[in-house]
Amino acid sequence: MKNKVSLIVASSMLFAMTAMNPVHAAADAGQAEALLKGNKCTKCHDAVKDKTGPSFKKTAAKFKGKADAEATISKFLTTGPKIKNADGSEEEHKVIKAKDDAEVKNLVQWILSQ
Ligand code: HEC
Repeated sequence: MKNKVSLIVASSMLFAMTAMNPVHAAADAGQAEALLKGNKCTKCHDAVKDKTGPSFKKTAAKFKGKADAEATISKFLTTGPKIKNADGSEEEHKVIKAKDDAEVKNLVQWILSQ
């Protein structure tokens, strides 16, 4: 009886792990791009071209190998810190609107993979 229960527990854990795996494997590019468009981030950012803001490729290079990259960018996107424009004037960076933290996390992972 005890064995049967632990078999059920073990197999449902395995199922949960398999189901969760794709989220960790790679960022969902479609979801990331939709979030960028919905927030009008694309007005100032492009994956590879510098616009008003740096390209995400540049940001990925800047954070390459940094253990706290994800946390730093998530904080940057959710707190609206002061940023300097090319002409020296200051403004607050746009605060991202997302349905949950997972959506922001996916975008951050996508940015870091550019
Ligand atoms: C009005 C223009 C503008 C909009 C809109 C904008 N950004 Fe930015 N963003 C900038 C500028 C300018 C910088 C550079 C800030 C600096 O270097 O101090 C920046 C920097 C960044 C960085 C790099 C942060 C770092 O620490 O290097 C990321 C990532 C980023 N933006 C993502 C986004 C996302 C995601 C959105 C949409 C929610 C967005 N931006 C909307 C102008 C913008």
